Amino acid sequence: MPHIKKEEFNLFPTPVSCYNLGAFDISEIVDIKDTITTDDHALVENGTSSFIPDCGKEYFLDKTPKIKEVIQMCVNDHARALGFDELDVGQSWCNKTPKGGRLDLHIHNGSVLSGAYYPILTEEIAPLLFRNPLYLYKTMEWFKYHSEYATVFHPVEPYQGLLVLFPSWLDHKTETEIGERFVVSFNTKYRDSNETLVSNQYDKVQSSC
Ligand SMILES: [Fe+2]
Repeated sequence: MPHIKKEEFNLFPTPVSCYNLGAFDISEIVDIKDTITTDDHALVENGTSSFIPDCGKEYFLDKTPKIKEVIQMCVNDHARALGFDELDVGQSWCNKTPKGGRLDLHIHNGSVLSGAYYPILTEEIAPLLFRNPLYLYKTMEWFKYHSEYATVFHPVEPYQGLLVLFPSWLDHKTETEIGERFVVSFNTKYRDSNETLVSNQYDKVQSSC
C-alpha cells in the first residue's frame, strides 16, 4: 500500500465509565443488604430484585447516603464529560442472582444515565454484557477478522467496588451466572428538568436532517 494520507473518525461513540469505589466504606450497605425486601422479577431469572416499577419510595441508595453521595459525584463527572445538564441519582434497587441465574437483555426506560455498582463481591461472577447499539444496522457486515468494529457484546468484568455508568438506552444483560451476584442499580433524572432546553436541542437535530 503506497503512502496515502488517511483520516479516520470513530463517529458517535457510546461512553461507558468504570469507577473503582473499592476504597470507600461500605458498612452501611453490609448493614442493610439482607434486610431489603426482594421478589421475583421478569428480567432476573432465578434471582430476585427490590425494583419497584411504580417508583415506590423504598430506594436502595436512600438507605445508604454516604455511598450515594460518592455515586452522585461519579454521575456528575460522567454527565459533565458527556455535556449533559446536571443529573440526580433517582430510583435505585438491588438484584440478587445465584449461580445459574441470568439477567435478560434490557434497557432502563425513563432515565438518562444508569449505573451498576458491585459493592460486595467475593468470587468471580458473570460479566456485564453491553450490546453494540449499531449491531441492528449492520445487516451485511460479516466479519472475517477480529476488530473492535466486529464487537456485538462488550463484556465488563465486575470486581468489588466497581461502579459502571452507561447510557440508559444501551442494551445490557448477563449470560448464565457463575457466582453469587449482588448488584445495586440505579437511574438518573435531570436535576432541574429543563425539558425545554433538551427538547429544543432535539428539534434542531431533527430539522437539520
Ligand atoms: Fe440494567
